[in-house]
Amino acid sequence: MSDSNALGREQWGSRLGFILAAAGSAIGLGNIWRFPYLVGKNGGAAFVLIYLLITVFIGLPVMMAEFAIGRAAQKSPVVAFKAIGATPCWSVIGWMGTLAGGFLTLSFYNVVGGWTIKYMIESLGGLLPLAADGKSGDFFNAFVSNPYGVVFFQVTFMALTMLVVLGGIGKGIERACKVVMPALFVILIILIFRSLTLPGAEVGVSFYLKPDLSKLTGETFLDALGQSFFSLSLGLGIMITYGSYLGKEEHLPSSAVWTASLDTLIALLAGLAIFPAVFAMGLEPGQGAGLSFVTLPAVFAKMPAGGKFFSFLFFLLLFFAAITSSMSLMEVSTAFGIEKFKWERKKAVCVMGTIIVLLGVPSALSLGGAPTIAGKAFFDAVEYLCNNVFLPLGSFLACLFVGWVWLPGAREELTNQGKLPFPWLNAWVWCIRVVAPAAIAYIFVTGLKW
Ligand code: TRP
Repeated sequence: MSDSNALGREQWGSRLGFILAAAGSAIGLGNIWRFPYLVGKNGGAAFVLIYLLITVFIGLPVMMAEFAIGRAAQKSPVVAFKAIGATPCWSVIGWMGTLAGGFLTLSFYNVVGGWTIKYMIESLGGLLPLAADGKSGDFFNAFVSNPYGVVFFQVTFMALTMLVVLGGIGKGIERACKVVMPALFVILIILIFRSLTLPGAEVGVSFYLKPDLSKLTGETFLDALGQSFFSLSLGLGIMITYGSYLGKEEHLPSSAVWTASLDTLIALLAGLAIFPAVFAMGLEPGQGAGLSFVTLPAVFAKMPAGGKFFSFLFFLLLFFAAITSSMSLMEVSTAFGIEKFKWERKKAVCVMGTIIVLLGVPSALSLGGAPTIAGKAFFDAVEYLCNNVFLPLGSFLACLFVGWVWLPGAREELTNQGKLPFPWLNAWVWCIRVVAPAAIAYIFVTGLKW
């Protein structure tokens, strides 16, 4: 595979490079920050089970569909639907995805990305002594209430993201992911080893792996669905964009299976690094978004030895995971600028990056108090809208489009015009036509509440 195709459009340098980049997009704060806190909030293993089922039967087929659209069109989401001959109304999927993913999701994502940098630095400084006194919550609140601090780190994180995306597909994103993803894996293994060897770790392992089905509610399903799609980077056009830089000889179903498996593996491993340690220190896992930033520092502070080192490693892990995902979100708005307005990559990155930073400022500030939207902190409102509304909606429409309008085209793409085998083709057709849209619609309607 070369770095650009006959039309001069950039391409991934290799199959491994593409899978690492797609996995880099998928593996992010969603796996290491969000997945464990949702598991904690939703009662442990029962949630994990639902999550796995949804990922196999709904997430994975949708990922294949997005890859197929992207590669067939060789265009970013806004123009992709037209390029494969769809009537203009379907472009709404591309528009919604670009606005919700490339702009809104990234606007709050980079806020949390900024926190990871702050926490990396503070791990070696004042964080653990405070956490040892039970003050990690105060530390967090003081940090998010200081407007200069949060915005400074948000901007730093975004600047690093923009720097990579400036380099383009092969030389920027792919190269960064090839270094960062293996490092991320190694760090995770070190942390799991530390966590499992703490006295009392077994309680955490059983919370995490023994399902208690009485804990399931409608909200559990919506949380699991939203999380599965968020974690796999679906519904907002990211995988359409990444698929559009793929060569025609690539086998899409196996790329999707690889990407989804790596993503799920890392989420499961993150839980294995976190829960045993939390329980071993006698702490509670169910307090929601503060799990990584409030509970874990307390865990590290109580470690018999090397707490600082492990704390630093953990936030470095979170930072690595976050930045490879934010690159993918940034690439969506960048590709949009390049294709829609015919801008140079440099201009697209600078203009879009600035807009995204500005959009993110209210989110960054809102956890310190204001601004709010309809009773929710701005940050929570944007996150809720993206993850629980736009994401399922985008995926639902993508299923309808691929399953009922463009099925012959998708079949051709998934089998490379019949040249490569895809034994699950019929099962995939069922999933994408019936199972996925019905499940998304049902869970969406029953679980949605502000
Ligand atoms: N999947 C990433 C994570 O788990 C976040 C992300 C990147 C994302 N691109 C996305 C979420 C597109 C939704 C849509 O952290």
